[in-house]
Amino acid sequence: MVIYLAGEVDEEARLDEMSPRQIVSELDKHVVGQRNAKRAVAVALRNRVRRQKLAPEMAVDVMPKNIIMIGSTGIGKTEIARRLARMSNSPFLKVEASKFTEVGYVGRDVESMIRDLTEISIEITRQEKSEEVAEKAELNVEERILDLLLPPLRSNAGYFDFDSETSEEETTEEADSPAKDEQFQRTREKLRTQLRSGKLDNRLIELEVREKNFPVIELAGPQGVEEMGINMKDMLGNLFQGRTKRRKMRVDEAIEYMMQEEEERLIDMDQVARAAIERVENSGIIFLDEIDKIAGRESGHGPDVSREGVQRDILPIVEGTTVNSRYGMVRTDHILFIAAGAFHVSKPSDLIPELQGRFPIRVELESLTIEDFKRILTEPRNALIKQYQAMMETEGVTIEFTGDAIDSIANFAAQVNQQTEDIGARRLQTIMEKLLEEISFEGPDLEPKKQRIDAAYVENMLAATVKDQDLSRYIL
Ligand SMILES: Nc1ncnc2c1ncn2[C@@H]1O[C@H](COP(=O)(O)OP(=O)(O)OP(=O)(O)O)[C@@H](O)[C@H]1O
Ligand SMILES: [Mg+2]
Repeated sequence: MVIYLAGEVDEEARLDEMSPRQIVSELDKHVVGQRNAKRAVAVALRNRVRRQKLAPEMAVDVMPKNIIMIGSTGIGKTEIARRLARMSNSPFLKVEASKFTEVGYVGRDVESMIRDLTEISIEITRQEKSEEVAEKAELNVEERILDLLLPPLRSNAGYFDFDSETSEEETTEEADSPAKDEQFQRTREKLRTQLRSGKLDNRLIELEVREKNFPVIELAGPQGVEEMGINMKDMLGNLFQGRTKRRKMRVDEAIEYMMQEEEERLIDMDQVARAAIERVENSGIIFLDEIDKIAGRESGHGPDVSREGVQRDILPIVEGTTVNSRYGMVRTDHILFIAAGAFHVSKPSDLIPELQGRFPIRVELESLTIEDFKRILTEPRNALIKQYQAMMETEGVTIEFTGDAIDSIANFAAQVNQQTEDIGARRLQTIMEKLLEEISFEGPDLEPKKQRIDAAYVENMLAATVKDQDLSRYIL
């Protein structure tokens, strides 16, 4: 059965209908500060919606305004992108630029990111379609299950060669009178009610299932493992598709199995593929993380992969090219690229000029202050403090944090960042873990059930470790 998970965004707040201001305020619910970066991504996204409303002759020439986000570690670059992904119904892929290698080297080729993005798009498009056909599929499945539980009278009696499970109440003999027919219908409806209420879930029925256990073969070709491997799997899959065997399973399992079958039958995969590709081409977003790791023009010595080489490979994709995916050709001209990096060692100007030109928007993310830390601890929808409270609540323990405790946690985090390495808001996670060590461990045995964490408690748990620089290097 299809389970609908409640989305994070209200139904009406779909990304493509949101104004930049709304996008920013949606991001505000999760990411503290970083106003400029939020505004930049909001505008970039809105521009694509605007482009799609243009006359086609003009739309082809409007290129996406790709973005580079610059900022040190742990200050929200990925977080902004992650949130954007969740609220968008655009295909979204996050990749590390440093994962790619030049053409000719073993490793992931840059085109694989487009293929991956297409897979994601296929998945969300298929998911949408399956929601569309869910109702119809459910009805079909219900009928099929009823047919199995109570084989139809005339038509193909004898086709179902099982009896023990189904004929306890009803016989499958020929119906020769309208009365019998009517009785049959009544029983069927009775069964339907029971089936819907789940009363029959534990019953066993036997059905035809397709054999699916084709051998796993891994092939690495010049295009990388994925492409070849997947195509091989498809071919083999088709080869084995025809074979079926009979299997007994519980009714609830059978429903799940048949739902999949029905969905496959009701969904036109060619149509899904076309829609998915169009979606990638017009609204796909690729988040290229760690772009700074491939900046720099020196090309090393020996057989090393050169960073410049990777940049040269990425260039056509950002500029617009056609990539062959297993669902068809994908044009990359209008895919939005958001690159991010700390740029501590290298600078955006160390990227090859052509690539720089393709990322016209630069935004710098600000370092986080103690004030920001306090807000990050408490304000976002699933802020750290709320997470810990909810986790402990599952064991009946209520934790209360006083205001001065929050101040103190933020202060310690800033202090450790300064003393050792600045890892931004990630420090809050290590600090919180240490702070709640005792409480987490005691868990259900904790007394009293109401725990109050104040500045003194924070001090007591953290001060010693923070003061000892060596210790904090390892523990916090
Ligand atoms: N501005 C912020 N608001 C709320 N939470 C934040 C913020 N910045 C960072 N965080 C928290 O810190 C964690 C790390 O942040 P994020 O993954 O965005 O870092 P980053 O900037 O991408 O760093 P890196 O350069 O290491 O990839 C996030 O999971 C998030 O919980
Ligand atoms: Mg990151």
